[in-house]
Amino acid sequence: MSDHPPPPSAGSVPAAETVRLCKRYGQIKAVDELTMTVPAGGIHGFLGPNGSGKTTTVRMLLGLIPADSGTMRLFGEPVPARLAQVIDKVGAIVEAPKFFDTFSARKNLALLAQAIGAPLSRVGEVIEQVGLAGRERGDFRTYSLGMKQRLAVAATLLKDPQLLIFDEPTNGLDPQGIHDFRATVRQLADAGKTVLVSSHILAEVQQVADTVTIIARGRTLAEGPVATLLAAGSDPVRAVVTDPARGAELLRAAGLDVRSDGRALLVTRGDAALDPALVARVLGEGGLWVSELSVLRRNLEQVYLELTGAVGGAA
Ligand SMILES: Nc1ncnc2c1ncn2[C@@H]1O[C@H](COP(=O)(O)OP(=O)(O)OP(=O)(O)O)[C@@H](O)[C@H]1O
Ligand SMILES: [Mg+2]
Repeated sequence: MSDHPPPPSAGSVPAAETVRLCKRYGQIKAVDELTMTVPAGGIHGFLGPNGSGKTTTVRMLLGLIPADSGTMRLFGEPVPARLAQVIDKVGAIVEAPKFFDTFSARKNLALLAQAIGAPLSRVGEVIEQVGLAGRERGDFRTYSLGMKQRLAVAATLLKDPQLLIFDEPTNGLDPQGIHDFRATVRQLADAGKTVLVSSHILAEVQQVADTVTIIARGRTLAEGPVATLLAAGSDPVRAVVTDPARGAELLRAAGLDVRSDGRALLVTRGDAALDPALVARVLGEGGLWVSELSVLRRNLEQVYLELTGAVGGAA
């Protein structure tokens, strides 16, 4: 663990990039001028709701389907034109990979290593790396979903790629499996790899990603370090009152922005910090008792809702 690589610098070549990438399926614009930069080194979350174009984008990057227009690069090389030159630097799980049911993890990996020309000595190493050691001899069909997923990750590591692309890797995993996956991804990033993780669960990826691209309907909404995105707005003050419509009126009259989460009022003041005491005072002076008052820590889910304007209005 002593040979940590230097952190990615602003001048380094991104691991992956798309510029104004487009893909249409009939009338559906699956990917619509999508621009994304995945910096070299670290974990990059590729986030968007179901059907927003994540898998389609990843498949185009990997040369599995053609793009309609736009450009893509992997390690600075234009793809698909020069995909053959860079594909060995990339390991990916896009769809559930196929393994032989009656073979063990070790045997499946050994076969795969042979097929792709990776040294057999890698098999033991990757089994260690994903935490399958001790379980690598049972038949694949007896493995839990979490173990199958570890094996899938192990398979991508055989060639020791620089960039790992995992599309919705935690789908179906239990909390322990998700936790273990995060730990594996963190280790890979700490070892100098770039990991691109797509997910529709923004809050979950927030915990592990260094940088993110947030998309909706095939378009980029926001991109950058997680910390920067979270810092770009103010944390809402959440207040519960008996008459929310009246409460919203009072707060707006005091120059505050008010939304509702269905049960409570979410109050902000532009991008400025808001003292919860002010909210309590405005409501109290208007004759409304506040039964709950708290400051919400914004997460990427809220950032997403703010960006799409999808937060329910208070009135
Ligand atoms: N082969 C296809 N034929 C027709 N439409 C497709 C095809 N693949 C994807 N689409 C459509 O393109 C849009 C984007 O799909 P995509 O699978 O890329 O989204 P996603 O972000 O990966 O979603 P999810 O979170 O559900 O995996 C969706 O409307 C989807 O129905
Ligand atoms: Mg998908």
